[in-house]
Amino acid sequence: MKPVKVGICGLGTVGSGTFNVLKRNAEEIARRAGRGIEVAQIAQRRPNPHCDTGSTPITADVLAVADNPEIDVVVELIGGYTLARELVLRAIANGKHVVTANKALIAVHGNEIFAKAREQGVIVAFEASVAGGIPVIKALREGLAANRINWVAGIINGTGNFILSEMREKGRTFPDVLAEAQALGYAEADPTFDVEGIDAAHKLTILASIAFGIPLQFDKAYTEGITRLTTADVGYAEALGYRIKHLGVARSTAQGIELRVHPTLIPADRLIANVNGVMNAVMVNGDAVGSTLFYGAGAGREPTASAVVADLVDVVRAMTSDPENRVPHLAFQPDALSDHPVLPIESCESAYYLRIQAKDHPGVLAQVASILSARGINIESIMQKEAEEHDGLVPMILITHRVTERHMVEAITALEALDDVIGDVVRIRVEHLN
Ligand code: HSE
Repeated sequence: MKPVKVGICGLGTVGSGTFNVLKRNAEEIARRAGRGIEVAQIAQRRPNPHCDTGSTPITADVLAVADNPEIDVVVELIGGYTLARELVLRAIANGKHVVTANKALIAVHGNEIFAKAREQGVIVAFEASVAGGIPVIKALREGLAANRINWVAGIINGTGNFILSEMREKGRTFPDVLAEAQALGYAEADPTFDVEGIDAAHKLTILASIAFGIPLQFDKAYTEGITRLTTADVGYAEALGYRIKHLGVARSTAQGIELRVHPTLIPADRLIANVNGVMNAVMVNGDAVGSTLFYGAGAGREPTASAVVADLVDVVRAMTSDPENRVPHLAFQPDALSDHPVLPIESCESAYYLRIQAKDHPGVLAQVASILSARGINIESIMQKEAEEHDGLVPMILITHRVTERHMVEAITALEALDDVIGDVVRIRVEHLN
């Protein structure tokens, strides 16, 4: 049988990895797919020293790949929203299947892209868009199809996890670690996407959609970055038996879906709390299966290529099948998506870590406890340190039981209004993941 012809758009980190894996493992891949997969065209702006493209035709124009009648599958690896959207929609309009690693594109324009793909009867595959080489989309969409998913929680940004791990383990500074992540090709073109949680929110939006059968709703995701975390809080969290991770949480509740990315204390004895460096991990809790954990490299040249090539194999296997009988893009049949709302952050519920800087006076702790108890906030543990030498203030650290964000915000406002409390109260959410 003739090989399937693929056009790779973008020969950066992931594009070069995809080309190299397809070439190196060509025979093994053809045995799995049932046909060879040939790269028939590459769109690239500049040569990549990690990739010897040999005699493969090259163009500088990505849209030429979408218009090339020879090409069966367009692999979109250029990133970003605008040109990538145009490329993917053009490829779909031309009846081509698409494989993409672009989480921003899927999270923001996925509903439109999948609707067009259904009209044309083509596949849009996006395994590499979430957690790099970990096949978590396939697991969630197919392997866990029996379950009502209760929650998904993941470390889904390698750069952020690398930064937090290096800061905790080696005391390195934030800019120093970020520069290394950029040099290694892990970070986004705009690294604020990594450290402010936007990249993780793109990925969480995709996971939530597949987990709960809801349309993609990136605009409703809550994001909070890691830039304001201090080594003091990392240390106090450790002392209380927790690690701080930048976690994406999607939880189904009776009121709606929680969709939030923020720094989070996790008990140090959880496996996921021990996921370090650029590694990613996603926990999925289903009513039948219980908790599962998917772990692996969340970024990087060949780990991400592994997911892109697996999608290509899937496309080759399914391209001759009846479009109605393929696995739906978002796991649930498109006419069966639910309108269960995504909740605003004020309605989300979690436990909290609070750090209060207080004057060393009798009765301060009693005032703090009274403010919390008046709002039904139960304290799980409390730690009070010696007064700081430079200002005489006492750091008071509390972990609370679960409470709605709205009540916690009210309590923090009341705490900050106390004469004996100085400055802002630091609050970090806590998830026990049990
Ligand atoms: N910037 C992303 C990360 C790349 O650090 O995880 C993979 O999506």
